[in-house]
Amino acid sequence: MKDRLDISSAVEGLYDAFPFPPDPLIDEAPPGYNWRWSWPVAYSFCTGQKPKKQDIRILDAGCGTGSSTDYLVHLNPQSSVVGIDLSGSALRLAKERCIRSGASRVEFHHLSIYDIEKLEGEFDFINCVGVLHHLPDPIQGIQNLALKLAPGGIMHIFVYAELGRWEIRLMQQAIAILQGNKRGNYQDGVKIGRQLFASLPENNRLVKYEQERWSFENQRDECFADMYVHPQEIDYNIDTLFELIEASGLEFLGFSNWEYWDIKRLLGKSPELIEKAIDLNYKKHYRLIEVLDPQISHYEFFLGRPPLHKVDWSHDQFLRTAIPELSPCIQGWPSENIFDGSYRLVNLSRQEYEFLEACDQASGKSQLTVEEILTNISVGLETVRLLQSRLLILLTPSSDYS
Ligand SMILES: C[S@@+](CC[C@H](N)C(=O)[O-])C[C@H]1O[C@@H](n2cnc3c(N)ncnc32)[C@H](O)[C@@H]1O
Repeated sequence: MKDRLDISSAVEGLYDAFPFPPDPLIDEAPPGYNWRWSWPVAYSFCTGQKPKKQDIRILDAGCGTGSSTDYLVHLNPQSSVVGIDLSGSALRLAKERCIRSGASRVEFHHLSIYDIEKLEGEFDFINCVGVLHHLPDPIQGIQNLALKLAPGGIMHIFVYAELGRWEIRLMQQAIAILQGNKRGNYQDGVKIGRQLFASLPENNRLVKYEQERWSFENQRDECFADMYVHPQEIDYNIDTLFELIEASGLEFLGFSNWEYWDIKRLLGKSPELIEKAIDLNYKKHYRLIEVLDPQISHYEFFLGRPPLHKVDWSHDQFLRTAIPELSPCIQGWPSENIFDGSYRLVNLSRQEYEFLEACDQASGKSQLTVEEILTNISVGLETVRLLQSRLLILLTPSSDYS
């Protein structure tokens, strides 16, 4: 018990000294879009369909300085949002950020995930990014969060992966060795870390990795400290990740960076090997991908509490009777070159553009089904499925099917 308290207070000390993330405070809604923070889009990713209700409760567990909380408020206009964190300094910035951006449907509590039972009620959507791996007991943490997830609710989690953090862990050790009994003095740790990077040869593996992947954001001391002088970090591999997930008692709904987990990305040249990989059970399949592409430095995924009704759009008649609408996370519309919910450029085909345009024109008026839209434009159902799977449209099943 003492250990756990010691670790939590060391973690609190780090984020009080270096509140994270160090994003600037601005006097307007945050820029861009991340679909993982949009309830209708995230729910659609997890279940295939738009959620029935929008007036939901959201929890940002370990909200830090409130960047994600700010997005959660702005991207979900009918929701009420609660942010909790261990660090008082981070929370002060989170509050100021939300006041300045006009995010009003939010409250913050200085509270540990370990004491989450003090929060009233349950939440439909929980965001817990970059937090569980800093807890002394992440299993206890995820179980506490699971208790707060409402039936039919979803939770987005982000934890570190060991393969792509190998060099980071070595640098952490080097700093700790040089700090000796000054460990826990985070300013000193940052100073020694920066001296180390400046002193090592240019072609040193730790230096090269830092420069290739992290040095841009690590110009900020808050990011450098979060990466290299953290008092508590647990990294996962596929086996230990699924131990954590299974301990939550929730259902695994998929990795939110799904492109990484597509075996065709790696073995596209060999249909025979792809077939072998597809025959593997899901843990072996994912393990194969991470060992073949060991640059992975985190896992991001959704869990859900049943009942969650998942919709399969492969049946043509079912799809024809669905009501489509433009995803709220498209940026740059109307244009054939738009940004998707991960802020990636998408070049739409003529057919895709026409379908989206028809959805856009129908929205606000009487809701048209896929079939009604397709009477005026020559677009195939495969195109509709593709737009749905890329989260560019949301689909609501016809009430005849519910
Ligand atoms: C790396 S930051 C992530 C902040 C934010 N979620 C984000 O992604 O930008 C980790 C945050 O988790 C908080 N934290 C760590 N342990 C916690 C706990 N037991 N309960 C609540 N918050 C915790 C820290 O204070 C810190 O602000």
